[in-house]
Parts: sequence; structure tokens; C-alpha cells
Amino acid sequence: MRKPDSGRRFLRTVKKYISFPGVRILNDKTALAEALSDEFESASSLAAENNRKMSVALSGGSTPALFFRSLAARTIDWESIHFYWGDERCVPPENIESNYLMTSRELLDRIQIPPENIHRVRGEADPDQEAERYAGEITRNLPSNSQGIPVFDWIILGLGDDGHTASIFPGFKLRPAEGFLCAVAVHPETGQERITFTLPLINSARRVSFLVSGEGKSGVVASIVQKTGDYLDFPAAHVSPQEGILEWFLDRGAGSGIS
Ligand code: 6PG
Repeated sequence: MRKPDSGRRFLRTVKKYISFPGVRILNDKTALAEALSDEFESASSLAAENNRKMSVALSGGSTPALFFRSLAARTIDWESIHFYWGDERCVPPENIESNYLMTSRELLDRIQIPPENIHRVRGEADPDQEAERYAGEITRNLPSNSQGIPVFDWIILGLGDDGHTASIFPGFKLRPAEGFLCAVAVHPETGQERITFTLPLINSARRVSFLVSGEGKSGVVASIVQKTGDYLDFPAAHVSPQEGILEWFLDRGAGSGIS
């Protein structure tokens, strides 16, 4: 007897999970944001129960914005959370381009979090000096691994349709600060300067989650997750935590290219 369509669809979905552990495909953007908020709520409860601080690096972009809005509605012990940014545009914090401004509007202005828990990248400063300063702030506040690289508890990343992540763009043109933890990048189309984490810093994290939505990214996501085509041309393909876990939170559109 032929399985009804829903049965075949269910089996296809199950096969995706078995083939690509760490990949979660949610129905739509809202479900995607809620799923990551569920994970954040669990992780923050565990940190609070163990009286631990949880260092989290955030991303810019429209998909993370939805997640921040969902997170603001959750019951979280914000005392135990320290926020950093995986990248920031070199603009003042009140500029519409600022990732900090977006995060403030969608999250920080809606929760009770101690100001000292917010580690803002000073987009208004000289880029090369700020990359040095920010790397120093991270080094002072986080434990380091055996290679002396600071270890974030969690880094949440977006993905551009050109395969960039944070502000590491194809071609990997970066002006690294001392220690190569942070660098200055230049947006390939706009020429806008940005401060970004480097791959060694990202790959030292305990947990790295990509948050991706939209069919427009399905090709890049599929190429990276399945390691097909020239996937290594995409900077996001080089995110491979040495000891931590890597996971992909996708909506149906972004996950539609995974066979
Ligand atoms: C930025 C982000 C960037 C972003 C991706 C995805 O500062 O622009 O850090 O890496 O996460 O471009 O953005 P969307 O979610 O808006 O597609």
C-alpha cells in the first residue's frame, strides 16, 4: 500500500536529521526564532543553577533580530548572561546600521540585564584600535583554551547569501589585530569597515549555532552542510569548532536544498 504523501515527507525529514546531525529545520522564521529561544532558555537556566556566567556572542541581520524579539519575552536570569558581538559595523551606536542598536531595540531595551554584562563593540572608534581593544576585553573576561584563545560559551552566527558569516567575507580579506582574535573587515560591496571575530576565535567556542532563514540561502547552506561544490570558498564553511558543537537552525526555505 502506497504511503500517504505525509508519510513520505516525514521519512524524508527523518533521513535529513540522521544524515546531518546538528541540523534542525523548522517550519518558518517564527518557529526558528522560538526554537533557538527554547535552547537559550535551557542553557541559561543551567548556567544560573550552577552559578556560572554564560558568555554569548550575537550576530547582526534580520534573522537574528527575530530571535532577539522572541528571547525578550522569555523568563531568563539575565544576571548570568554576558553579551558580546561577533561583528559590528564601524558606525556610532545610534546609527541605523549598528548591530548594537538593532539588538538594543529588539532585546536589550526590553530586559533587565546589568549594564556591565553588555560588551559593546565601539563602532564609533578607530577600527584598528577598536579591534585591539575588543580582543583585549574578550581575553580579560573569558577563560582560554590550551592555545591561549578565549573560549565563548556560545556564538550565534548569521549567514550571508555569499557564504559570509560574522563579517568574514569571501576572499577572507582581514586586517587582524594583535593575537588574531578580532580583525577589521571591509564589506565587498559597500566598502563599510567592520570589526569581526576571526575563525580561530569562533572555532574555540563551546557551541556555535548558525541561524539562517530564506530560500535564497538554501544553495549555500546545502553546499556547506553537505560539503559539495566549492563549499570552501564560503567563509562559513570554515566554522568548525575544535572541541565545541556546531549546529544549524534553519527554516524550511533555508533547509530546502539539503538532499
Ligand atoms: C551583519 C551580520 C551578517 C548577517 C548575515 C545574515 O552584521 O550583517 O553579522 O553576517 O548575520 O548577513 O543576515 P540576514 O539574517 O539579514 O540574512
